[in-house]
Amino acid sequence: MKRNFLMGAAAVAGLMTLSACGGGAGSDANAPAAEETAAAPAAEEPAAPAEGEATEATDAAATETADAGAGLQLAGLTGDPAKGEKVFALCRSCHVLEEGVNRVGPSLYNVVGRKSGTVAGFSYSDANKNSGVTWTTDVLFEYLKDPKGFMPGTKMAFPGIKNDQDRANLVAYLESQSK
Ligand code: HEC
Repeated sequence: MKRNFLMGAAAVAGLMTLSACGGGAGSDANAPAAEETAAAPAAEEPAAPAEGEATEATDAAATETADAGAGLQLAGLTGDPAKGEKVFALCRSCHVLEEGVNRVGPSLYNVVGRKSGTVAGFSYSDANKNSGVTWTTDVLFEYLKDPKGFMPGTKMAFPGIKNDQDRANLVAYLESQSK
């Protein structure tokens, strides 16, 4: 699942690279490759030089993105924590983020990176307690789409959030609250 995260980051970084390069060095670098392709359509790797440069540029942009902390990347989506806070309203009837405060569901204090079924004083189902899952952002993204599908036997009575963007925003919010 880490893979998705990386691909997402690369995809967004790629977009940024495209818009950032405008007509400058980017188009200069691409022009020769395009001519080569036209002149020798059978050549095996006509675009290789341009790709090499693009990869470097993408790496640089990816680093910048991470440094700038521009949202959480999930399945190619950027999660917006501010919007996710509103989505968390769906959870509040059963969960709070305060440490040690269990309601219908266990406290979600520091939930990102936490092992499942480990909140003291909460009576979990066996399914949740023994799932062996660690609540990474990727796992939460999957779980919250369809909790009972992801974890058969869970007693969390919540149908899930089908909208990927809403879910990415929510997970970004949970992550922002888990540091
Ligand atoms: C109707 C009440 C209810 C709602 C609404 C609800 N949950 Fe839960 N949640 C629970 C219960 C109960 C459990 C414990 C499940 C078990 O033991 O099988 C749980 C478990 C969890 C766990 C596993 C925690 C752990 O320590 O392993 C996570 C993560 C979680 N919920 C996140 C959410 C999020 C995020 C939302 C909002 C999108 C949400 N839940 C909405 C009741 C709810």
